[in-house]
Amino acid sequence: MNKDKFEAVPLNNLDEWEDDLLRRYPDPDAIATAKATDEYRNYETPARDTVKEFYRLNHKYQTYDFVQEKRNEFLQFNKREMPVWEAFDFLNQLVDDSDPDTDLDQMQHLLQTSEAIRRDGHPDWMVLIGLMHDMGKVLCLLANRSGQW
Ligand SMILES: [Fe+2]
Repeated sequence: MNKDKFEAVPLNNLDEWEDDLLRRYPDPDAIATAKATDEYRNYETPARDTVKEFYRLNHKYQTYDFVQEKRNEFLQFNKREMPVWEAFDFLNQLVDDSDPDTDLDQMQHLLQTSEAIRRDGHPDWMVLIGLMHDMGKVLCLLANRSGQW
């Protein structure tokens, strides 16, 4: 999907969800078909060098004290305010250094995850969790530092 093809705007009503999905993904079978399932999450020989470096830095620097410092920083809720759909769009500029499977942009990943959960017959609350599960990555964009670890 060409993410630039569609404007990321909130739906007027959740009843529009199905039609919006079909508009965004008219051919669901064409999404992420380049790999077999067992080819995903290959951390031994990832497609990009950033994956190993991400985890090396993460394990070296993400200490208890660092986490407490970040808690104090971000729990002031003074960084930025935005509606959820705008946050999805904001997140979409991130290329996740820890993810060895970057075929999809962040918004596609969130939609694919939530729709896979729904397809499997799980309750609505779990579909919502699938949609929101990576929103914490927004902190990478607000952290005002280099590196995502
Ligand atoms: Fe994810």
